[in-house]
Amino acid sequence: MATEHPKHAETEFPVHRLIATRWSPYVFDPQPIETAQLRACLEAARWSPSSYNEQPWSFLVASRTDPACFETMLGCLVEFNQNWARNAGALLVAVAATTAEATGKPHPSAYYEVGLAVAHLAFQATEFGLAVHQMGGFDRQRTRAAYEIPEAFDPITAIAIGHPGDPASAVDAAFAARDQATRERKPQDEFVFSGRWGKPW
Ligand SMILES: Cc1cc2nc3c(=O)[nH]c(=O)nc-3n(C[C@H](O)[C@H](O)[C@H](O)COP(=O)(O)O)c2cc1C
Repeated sequence: MATEHPKHAETEFPVHRLIATRWSPYVFDPQPIETAQLRACLEAARWSPSSYNEQPWSFLVASRTDPACFETMLGCLVEFNQNWARNAGALLVAVAATTAEATGKPHPSAYYEVGLAVAHLAFQATEFGLAVHQMGGFDRQRTRAAYEIPEAFDPITAIAIGHPGDPASAVDAAFAARDQATRERKPQDEFVFSGRWGKPW
């Protein structure tokens, strides 16, 4: 189903507007994010569920309103991501605590739970008309060194968050083309099974 939002997902079944319209743009409008909105996005992450309520996530924040801070985090991204993420209102790095407090052993689901928290953050951002673009493409060692992240914590993903820009006025045609491409997903039959592995439900 298509609706007025330019990036609304063509879903097989109706889903909530925030799910259908969350997307990962390459073209950002380089305006800052209101601090209260960025705080609310982090608050959404805060209220994500976690095993034993250990909340194994942390976030490093770099707003473009603090250029030196922003440049430091931008410099942790791979070059391809730097080229578009430099226009985001803020950059974040999501970090996982890798030792479970309950057992003192490696946390079996810390990465999973950080991802879940970031999903909460992304939907709250979507509600504000902001967009979130996550990035596996960043230098983990450089990030660890730049922020003095202790060994018991792992940087998991970098995140660009900001106001989506107009692809038509983008300087870089390749990024504009990415943003204008049709959004695609595998059909449910390829990943929803019943009875045995691979048998579509
Ligand atoms: C953990 C994670 C890492 C990603 N890493 C990158 C990245 O380094 N560079 C990039 O351009 N997009 C990256 N993406 C964005 C995905 O390509 C994007 O989410 C996917 O194509 C689906 O598009 P949509 O989010 O607009 O629905 C990443 C997404 C996730 C969740």
